[in-house]
Order: sequence, then C-alpha cells, then structure tokens
Amino acid sequence: MRRLGWSDVTAKSLWLNRRQLIAGGAALAATPALARIEAAPSGYSTDLAPNTFEEITSYNNFYEFGTDKGDPARHAGGLTTDPWSIVIDGLVDRPGTYDLADVVREQPLEERIYRFRCVEAWSMVIPWIGFELAGLLNRVGVQPGARFVAFETLVRPEEMPGVASPFIQWPYREGLRLDEAMHPLTILATGLYGEEMPKQNGAPIRLVVPWKYGFKSIKSIVRISLTADMPPTTWNMLQPQEYGFYANVNPKVDHPRWSQASERRVGAGLFAGREDTLMFNGYEAEVASLYAGQDLAVDY
Ligand code: MTE
Repeated sequence: MRRLGWSDVTAKSLWLNRRQLIAGGAALAATPALARIEAAPSGYSTDLAPNTFEEITSYNNFYEFGTDKGDPARHAGGLTTDPWSIVIDGLVDRPGTYDLADVVREQPLEERIYRFRCVEAWSMVIPWIGFELAGLLNRVGVQPGARFVAFETLVRPEEMPGVASPFIQWPYREGLRLDEAMHPLTILATGLYGEEMPKQNGAPIRLVVPWKYGFKSIKSIVRISLTADMPPTTWNMLQPQEYGFYANVNPKVDHPRWSQASERRVGAGLFAGREDTLMFNGYEAEVASLYAGQDLAVDY
C-alpha cells in the first residue's frame, strides 16, 4: 500500500464520505469535507468495533472551545490549522520550528484502532491515523540528559472562545516520561477514520496514549520539549489530589469523587450495562513493565 504523508493529501477534497451520503446535503453544509489519508493497518489495533464517526466527533473534551461536550464540534470549525508549525526544543540535537509537513515527513502512517478511556469513566474505540512519537523523537535526536517530554497546545483567543475562561492556566500542557513517550503504542495522530483530523478532535496533530486517561492525549500541539525534570501538566496543576502525572488507567485506584472500576461505552445505548475497566485500559501486556517497582496508588 502506498503511504501518503500529510503534504500529499489533497486539501479540501470533495470526497463524499459515509456521513455525508447518509445525511445528505445538510451534513455537507455543516461539515467541511476532510481530506483522505491512506495508512497501513497495524498489529497494535484492537478487534473491538469502533465508535461511529458521529460519536467520536460530537462528544468531545477540548476546553479551548468550551466545557460542554458539544462545544468543540460547535466552535472548533473556525480554527486555522494550515499553516501549522511545531517548536521542538530542550534537550534535542536538532531543535527548531518545524512545519507540520516536516514533522510528518518520513513517518510511516498507520491506522491504530485503540481503546480510549476518559478519566470521567466513559470510553470509546477510535480508529486513529498516526505515527509513533518515537520516530519523530529519534529524528530530532534526544540528548542523554532528557527524561521527560512536555507538550503544549496552541493558544489563539480569537479562534478559541474557551481560553477566555481563566479556569485553566493556558496553554493546556501535558507530559510523559521518556520511556512512555518512546513506547510504540504512543502515537501522534493526524487523522481518524481515514480522514485528516477533525478540528474538535485536535487537528492537525494530537497525542494519543491509549493506556492512560484521555486527558494525557493533548490536542493541537504546537510545542514538544525534551526536559530533565517532570513537567507541569494541566489537570495536575488544577487538582493534584485528583489527577496525577502518570494517569494510567487503573480500575483499582478510584478518583476521589467516583469509581474507576467500570466505564460507560459511548453509544452503547441506554440499556447496555457498564463494562469493567481494564488495567492500563487493556494494554497491560504491552506497558506494565514500564512501571515495574512503582506503587501505582502513589504514582497515580
Ligand atoms: N487537549 C487540549 N488541548 N484541551 C483539552 O481540553 N481534553 C483532554 C484531551 N486533550 C483536552 C485535550 C481530555 S479530558 C480528553 S478525554 C480527550 O482530549 C478527549 O479527546 P476526544 O475529544 O478526541 O475524544
């Protein structure tokens, strides 16, 4: 299969996709056509049936556009995602401001169908398109002193109505330990369902770390910094007793205000029961060794 990079896709193609065929002209007017992306399938994908495109793009957390689940779909359409550049700095051999096309260049795109578990105890199954973060980090050259990777989201008040609220100290920030960042399950995603990333899901590029609560998967990234020290992260800054740096999905460590033992699959229907939450969101075999010797009730 020929692999297409970000710069190869035809922007704003008038390709008629499933939802437009189903919903007809109304959807065409409401939803700009997204460019197709080709990607190879991956052995890391789950066999679970993915949520629908509509579910994945209408029930979102993206506080830069508001705190209601429908706010990102309502307000993110005006976000300018082209041109887009990412600052890569800190303890790297080749720091700089990279165009998105440069970031994606030479990175093999794969479709990764991952389980996604929000700390709020809902879950989805999402067919991401992306590439391993390790591929990019290796290209820019990680220096020996680096132990963590910090990420920041764009702050553009004129296009992001939610950043008028001082509730979060913008920019939204996240971070990973270097070994977590280099793990092959950790991807930078540029699309889903075979199309470029919808804006409400973090266009043009966002992190996806499937064994951690969804808040680690930072959207619309403009900065990646390699650091020696553990970086500050948004939810930990807001409520350190409730949200730790690691945020590994763990059914045995409850949120102070609710149980994490089970979850509601978005779209499962009113009468579907809750599902048991799995250790590391079902990725225990792949990632448990990263935390050998750590007490995960302490390092939550
Ligand atoms: N990234 C930014 N910049 N701002 C946010 O508010 N919300 C996080 C995460 N990334 C968030 C973010 C949370 S809480 C979740 S659950 C996921 O994005 C939701 O991703 P989705 O809307 O694509 O399902």
